[in-house]
Amino acid sequence: MSQTSSQSMRILLDQSEIPTHWYNVAADLSTPPAPPLGPDGKPVSVEKMAEIFPMNILEQEMSLERWLPIPEEVRQIYALWRPAPLCRATRLEAMLKTPAKIFYKNESVSPAGSHKPNSAVAQAWFNHAAGIRRMTTETGAGQWGCSLAFAGQMFGIEVRIYMVRVSYDQKPFRRSMMRTWGAEVFASPSELTQSGRMALAQDPNSEGSLGLAISEAVEEAASRADTTYGLGSVLNHVVLHQTIIGLEAKKQFEKIGLYPDIIIGPCGGGSSFGGIAFPFLADRAAGDKRANNLRCIAVEPTSCPTLTRGAYAYDFGDASGYTPMMKMFTLGHDFMPPGIHAGGLRYHGASPLISQLVREKLVEPVAVPQLATFEAGTQFACAEGIIPAPESCHAIRAAIDEALRCRETGEEKVILFNLTGHGHFDMAAYDRYFSGALEDYEYPAAAIAASLAHLPKVG
Ligand SMILES: Cc1ncc(COP(=O)(O)O)c(C=O)c1O
Repeated sequence: MSQTSSQSMRILLDQSEIPTHWYNVAADLSTPPAPPLGPDGKPVSVEKMAEIFPMNILEQEMSLERWLPIPEEVRQIYALWRPAPLCRATRLEAMLKTPAKIFYKNESVSPAGSHKPNSAVAQAWFNHAAGIRRMTTETGAGQWGCSLAFAGQMFGIEVRIYMVRVSYDQKPFRRSMMRTWGAEVFASPSELTQSGRMALAQDPNSEGSLGLAISEAVEEAASRADTTYGLGSVLNHVVLHQTIIGLEAKKQFEKIGLYPDIIIGPCGGGSSFGGIAFPFLADRAAGDKRANNLRCIAVEPTSCPTLTRGAYAYDFGDASGYTPMMKMFTLGHDFMPPGIHAGGLRYHGASPLISQLVREKLVEPVAVPQLATFEAGTQFACAEGIIPAPESCHAIRAAIDEALRCRETGEEKVILFNLTGHGHFDMAAYDRYFSGALEDYEYPAAAIAASLAHLPKVG
């Protein structure tokens, strides 16, 4: 099948077509992003942030430049698996009897099995360039921890990872992967940090949360001069690095003369969603008529409904209040989400950039229940062969729902979703789904109100 015909099933780019710049959506927002605040309620100083991040990363975090160059060293590591294929899911379309054209960007082809190395490699390189030799981080599903472990190996950086307890227990082979790439892995909450010890004192059987694991990793980085911290999502620079996904997808759509009507991605902290959607929103900002009616749908679990039921407010990025406060949709920093299997979507907050775009109605948030996501993921696996990560199943659910709507209306919409990762280390979750042990869970309104009552008072 020709690579450029509109019937192509895999639209590939040459290695030389790996984008040379990342896209920074902050340049195109109607108002500049709200600054992160310190405990005194004032914009946090760069010196304070520099306790845990190198200056070259902070420059990206605060930049209002539209295009930022991708260092050649990063493009060379990207080339181990990028450009990632854009695939047409023709068998899924046939199974659904939909006139819609369904495409997915296959980010599962990276060494770690997801989109996360796009930022991990960049972060490791910028830290290396700043002379850093040791980093800490947290991981929920294990995807980010694996990615930073791998990226650390590429640039000679030691990596210590705090892995949310529930995932540490459910996904032993993710731990083995991180160790293969030379990283140290501890279950969070741990005895290694003050935040971990406090959480264990309150609940010795704590399942942990991303917010808590972040507290542990930040606490350690702040207390050691030789160590910085790397975050796998949420922050502007992480979303920036992930725009490689959408930038490649745009080139791929150009090759087949199509343009998406709907872009869908799972949303945990929001990096992969922003990564696929923002480069298309850049077209809209530039007055490209093809993007006028573009819909961008961010999909989250009903068990952790940050964008759909959270408050838009300043809150801490971690459970213990070590990080600056960010203006974002949040369920409250001490929100303890249930141990659903989509570990990467169990975060109380969402990227400030995505939050702002939700407020500006350029991004539509949707929450879906767990069982329906596994149903969609299984359908996709049977049609297209790839077994998706539980996080990615959230996007597939929404994509199938949109395709079924097209069946009703007869519209031939072009749907693009982000296949953010494969599920090869999530088969225990699939098994639990098949055996009927998984349940839907809607977070009770009273519990959300209780954690929102602890939002920091600002202004
Ligand atoms: C496969 C996969 N998809 C999506 C996510 C959600 O993260 P983010 O919203 O930052 O893309 C994760 C997080 O771990 C993940 O592992």
